[in-house]
Amino acid sequence: MRKILAVTLILVFALSILGCGGSSKPAGTKAEYKANMKLTNTQTKDHPYNIGAQKFAELIKERTKGRITITLYPDGQLGKGEREMLESLQQGTIDIYVGSTGPVGNFSPTMNILDIPFLFRDNAHVDKVLDGPIGQQLLKDLEKSNLVGLAFWENGFRNLTNSRNVVKVPEDGKGLKIRVMENKVHLLAWKTAGLNPTPMAWGEVYAALQQKVIDGQENPVAVIYSSKLYEVQKYLSMTGHVYSPAPIIISKKRWDQMPKEDQEIFRKTALEVAQYQRKLNRDAEAAKIKEMESKGFTVTKDVDKAAWQKAMQPAFEEFAKEFGKDKINAIMNTK
Ligand code: PAF
Repeated sequence: MRKILAVTLILVFALSILGCGGSSKPAGTKAEYKANMKLTNTQTKDHPYNIGAQKFAELIKERTKGRITITLYPDGQLGKGEREMLESLQQGTIDIYVGSTGPVGNFSPTMNILDIPFLFRDNAHVDKVLDGPIGQQLLKDLEKSNLVGLAFWENGFRNLTNSRNVVKVPEDGKGLKIRVMENKVHLLAWKTAGLNPTPMAWGEVYAALQQKVIDGQENPVAVIYSSKLYEVQKYLSMTGHVYSPAPIIISKKRWDQMPKEDQEIFRKTALEVAQYQRKLNRDAEAAKIKEMESKGFTVTKDVDKAAWQKAMQPAFEEFAKEFGKDKINAIMNTK
């Protein structure tokens, strides 16, 4: 009898180590893992983040045969700004985030390198860096902060808007009080160029522009268009000073519960949607500019980018100290 009891105990112990016991499995098997996930961002339903998110949700549902569904919470429904959303992701109260890298550097400092002005030449350069080993390493670094980076979608090249005057060169922007993201690279770059930047959560920007608490802000065309900033701003300057990627990030708490096969489906699908989402963002830009011009927005295309680069140059010494000249060069020299 004692022998049988001992053998039974050994068997139970061995099974629990192998993870075959019902309740001791953290992730479950693929066939039984079911979840409804919350995906959030700050942008309106028609913004490319949400068109991409809609596609991602459809593909995930299809590829997991309905076991995993994703509900979209656009337009800042789950937080005023992106920093707040990332905190909720760390705590596991939100599952998935799509947004700029702006506040991400406060969680994973290496990510800030991507916010350096005039780092990228064009879209082809962007794709090479973000989908290559440099981009993949930056996504991997997020894991130290309980965040899992799946892929880079797109926010776009950022441009300056304001309500005071046409801006072509830094002198035109002298003293402009502009909102910047909660990101020290942006703050330093704009200060160095002679403007007066102030960090602010995105959810407060429209009202601050409307009440003239600030003169301007900077964002890609898609954001300016879908948030109707032309209603509270007069001038758009196509500065294209910073390329703003949009990492799609999942909470590590959620990730660790998922079976390996589902993790694979998520990674593959996020990368596939990245191609679709970037293309639709890029293809729509010219029409959005045209439409905003027809509403009376003054768009300046002949911006002197070299003058802006020169004005921000002293900040580059700081960036080189912080990120390493070799790392910055590795991005700039990617062909
Ligand atoms: O300026 C920002 O904070 C971001 O670009 C935005 C508008 C939230 C989109 O990611």
